[in-house]
Amino acid sequence: MNDLFTQAQAATDFIRARFPSTPKLALILGSGLGDFASQVADAVTIPYSEIPHFPQSTVAGHSGKLVLGTIGGITVAVMQGRVHAYEGYTMEQVTFPMRVLGLLGAQRLIVTNAAGGINTLYGQGAIVAISDHINLTGSNAALGPNEPRFGLLPGSGQRFFDMTTAYSPALRQLAVSEAAQQGWELSEGVYIGVLGPSYETPAEIRAFRTLGADLVGMSTVHEVIVARHMGIEILGLSVVTNMAAGVLDQPINHEEVMEIGRRIAGQFTSLLTAIIPKFGEPAQMAAR
Ligand code: HPA
Repeated sequence: MNDLFTQAQAATDFIRARFPSTPKLALILGSGLGDFASQVADAVTIPYSEIPHFPQSTVAGHSGKLVLGTIGGITVAVMQGRVHAYEGYTMEQVTFPMRVLGLLGAQRLIVTNAAGGINTLYGQGAIVAISDHINLTGSNAALGPNEPRFGLLPGSGQRFFDMTTAYSPALRQLAVSEAAQQGWELSEGVYIGVLGPSYETPAEIRAFRTLGADLVGMSTVHEVIVARHMGIEILGLSVVTNMAAGVLDQPINHEEVMEIGRRIAGQFTSLLTAIIPKFGEPAQMAAR
C-alpha cells in the first residue's frame, strides 16, 4: 500500500543510499536564508526533484535542495527551501520532507523563516527566537488517521500529542546565551502562522497583536506540528524581513523580504554555526 509512511520510507531509503550517516539535526532554511547551506562540510546535495515523492517549491528564493554533511562536527540534513500550503500543496505534502527528516533519524530541528514583525519593538532585520505559535492556517498537518510508526522517539507518535513546549525552552536558552556572547540580544516572540499568499491587512495585524502574536508568517507551524508528533526537539528562528502590514506607512513586497535575508546572513550564520555543535549534547547540558 502506497500510504504516507511507505512513501516517506521510500524517500528515506533513497537518501540513505546516497548519504548513509544519520543526521542528528535537521535544518529548514526559510526565504532568503538558503545560503547557510554552504556551511555544510563534505556536502552531499540532492535536488528535491530526484527524491521520490518530495514536493517541488514554486517560490523564488526557495531553491529546493537537500544538503547532507556536517557542521561543526555534527551530522546535519539541511533543507534549502520548503513548500507552502499557499502553493496548493496538501498538509501531507507540505510536511512530507519533515517526516523524512524524522525517519532519517534527526532528533532535533532548527526551523527558520522570514516573518513580518507585529511587535513594534522589533526592527527590520531582527532575528527572533520563536517561543510559541498560534496556528491560524485553518488546518493541521496531523489530520487523518494517526500513523504511530512515525513515533520513533520515546512517547511520540500518539493520536493526541502535547504542544506545551513545542519550541524547546532549553534550546532557545542556548541560542539566547550564544547571541549575548556575540554581543546582541536575541528577542523571543510568538509566531502566528497564516495561510497566505496575500500579506495581511492592517486590521488583521491589529487583531493578531491582540491575540498575542509578535511575528506573522506563512510556514513553520505545520512542520513544527509533525515534528512534535515524531518527538523531535525544536528551535525556531524568525528573521523579521519587514514590519507587518500597517505598522509602517508602506506596502510589503517579496523582494524586500529576500533582500533582508541576505543582509543579515552573516549574523544568522554566526549564530547557527556557534549553536549547532552544541546540539549534539543533551539540551540541559548544552544550555549551560
Ligand atoms: N506576513 C506574512 N508572511 C511573511 C511576512 C508578512 O508580513 N513577511 C515575511 N513573511
